[in-house]
Amino acid sequence: MGALLQLRDVAKCFRMGDRDEEILHGIDLDVCEGEFVALMGPSGSGKTTCLEILGALSRPTRGSYHLDGEPVHRLDDDALADLRAARMGFVFQTFNLMPRMSALRNAALPLLYAGLPRGEREARARRMLERVGLGHRLDHRPAQLSGGERQRVAIARALVNEPRVILADEPTGNLDQRTGAEILDLLRALHRDGRTLICVTHNEDVAAAAGRVVRIRDGGIVADV
Ligand SMILES: Nc1ncnc2c1ncn2[C@@H]1O[C@H](COP(=O)(O)OP(=O)(O)OP(=O)(O)O)[C@@H](O)[C@H]1O
Ligand SMILES: [Mg+2]
Repeated sequence: MGALLQLRDVAKCFRMGDRDEEILHGIDLDVCEGEFVALMGPSGSGKTTCLEILGALSRPTRGSYHLDGEPVHRLDDDALADLRAARMGFVFQTFNLMPRMSALRNAALPLLYAGLPRGEREARARRMLERVGLGHRLDHRPAQLSGGERQRVAIARALVNEPRVILADEPTGNLDQRTGAEILDLLRALHRDGRTLICVTHNEDVAAAAGRVVRIRDGGIVADV
């Protein structure tokens, strides 16, 4: 059995003025279906850059990325967008919720891109919000929710299309300890459900919950246990 996600010699360069700066220097990483992986490392080491490649939000400058055997590094922008809509769920530290939309409409958003009818979209979004404990907050806009509630809306949105892979960038970073612990319980439940989770974190509790910790430093993997 091959890995679900497989990076080989992945490098990422960014154009800065008149020169390219290499941020990731030849990353090799295999993640199997159902794994919960914590990605850790100092600020600026390349964790978000790596997560964006794994999430098909950006393409490697060099090297290959296979998802379930499919060569993601060769896909064009439209194909990447389709792949994200079908298989990826994202949770960002800053939530990225739409300020004018209710919790229900925010959570239903990924299904709009998937082309489902409205009734079906809202029924699924309602089920996900109930699952994260927000069944009583469907009509609230983000400004009318607490930080932890906003993060739970973001998680419901990440899950609403039943993604196989969930990518989270410091999902507990902006939360107090208790709310962070609630979000961690949710991540654990997703892992028990058999989802594949990759989570950038500075939080030792999140790292302990993950079965595996990959450490990045200066754009390279320095430990994988
Ligand atoms: N679009 C970009 N253009 C130029 N440089 C970039 C770009 N994105 C990231 N970088 C640089 O790449 C390096 C790694 O950034 P990245 O966001 O991956 O770090 P990180 O490990 O997620 O850090 P943090 O823990 O602070 O979020 C940084 O030095 C950053 O300045
Ligand atoms: Mg980051």
